[in-house]
Amino acid sequence: MQSLVQSAEDILKKNDLGSYTVPTHGLYPFQWNWDSCLTALGQAHFDEARAWREIATLMEHQWDDGMVPHIIFHKEDNGYFPGPDVWGTGRNVPTSGITQPAVAGFAVNRLFERATDKDLAVEQVRALIPKIHKWHQWFFRCRDPQDTGLVAIIHPWESGRDNSVDWDVPFSRVPTDGVLPFQRRDTQHANPEHRPTQAQYERYIWLVQLFRSLDWDNMALHDNSPFRIVDPGFNAILLRSCSDITKLADLVGLDAIAADSRIFAQRGAQAMEGLWHDGFGQYVCYDRVARELIESPSISGILAAFADIPANRSKALADRVMALASRCNHSVPSHDPCSDGFDGSRYWRGPVWLIVNYMIADGLRRAGQTDVADLIKNDSLALIEKSGFAEYYDPITGAPCGGTEFTWTAAMVIEFISQLDKP
Ligand code: DGY
Repeated sequence: MQSLVQSAEDILKKNDLGSYTVPTHGLYPFQWNWDSCLTALGQAHFDEARAWREIATLMEHQWDDGMVPHIIFHKEDNGYFPGPDVWGTGRNVPTSGITQPAVAGFAVNRLFERATDKDLAVEQVRALIPKIHKWHQWFFRCRDPQDTGLVAIIHPWESGRDNSVDWDVPFSRVPTDGVLPFQRRDTQHANPEHRPTQAQYERYIWLVQLFRSLDWDNMALHDNSPFRIVDPGFNAILLRSCSDITKLADLVGLDAIAADSRIFAQRGAQAMEGLWHDGFGQYVCYDRVARELIESPSISGILAAFADIPANRSKALADRVMALASRCNHSVPSHDPCSDGFDGSRYWRGPVWLIVNYMIADGLRRAGQTDVADLIKNDSLALIEKSGFAEYYDPITGAPCGGTEFTWTAAMVIEFISQLDKP
């Protein structure tokens, strides 16, 4: 195991550009939001100050309205599409104009709990919590205008699960007329069979052009987007961050933030119940435009285990992981292998992702479902030993897919291995 940790550390260092880390060279040459937060967890095992810097750098690019963008284009690189010219957000250091799963609150809490340099940790918590809370407020203000307790994503890239089967029906409503010609770069770095299709890219870009035409005004984007989805995994990450921020804010005396965050977490937890699907035995997405649950059993509804959900739901999700495990060789597939649309090597339509495994295992362990959490952890490490530090893996064959020497995969390996000796 020590050699795996060393290899993981080497990857984190190789992808470290000083104050931020690229997910992998070539395919993703900038700073990505949730990649950075999860990367910090791995960095903290060998350099706590560097781990804090990773999240601090991200938060330095928060917009005035509170939004934290999904990509920070720190320096030019023509090897990625869509670059700053397509987004046109007008920032001094260019950024994209959409967000990503709000895992920063969770990551900061985890760094704080583990910190050996407590003075530095308290200083960082005091600096970061107000910014993270401002982001959470932005979410509930701009992505929950009807005050339901849960927020919507307005672009598949926000979920991080770009081409999930979940989006097939709602995405068919997104037009492609008027999309300016473009040249994809991702397929030059990774196997096109592992990536989203051209038809999906046209819709991704149509949405970007729409939001740009609305001057990236977040008070207008939600209602004007033809794609508005309440994603259980996305919300679970936000709600877990709200709970974690509550604890931290209480601890450092940021009382107003603690009070707000407690309410966000409690209201969200109640609203999550509306996403439960008895037939699948898991949560599913809700389509705010069509006003219906999406009949698609993806990993998002299992990732809900990351939030504070009722014990019977955690137990059901643990059972669901076991059922999925019986349908493939490597847990947890990002889509049910027995369901329509499953594709074992195409990005989020089936492959295993270590970050998702980590968050599901963490939630199940907290809920007392330790056997299933251990199964996920052991499966994850076996996959790395077999196929190296890939971006994602085919759950049937275990083959590595997407980018190589992947930062957050490496970070999760260090995390999983650090848990092996713990009861
Ligand atoms: C990509 O470019 O593949 C990303 O997922 C968008 O953030």
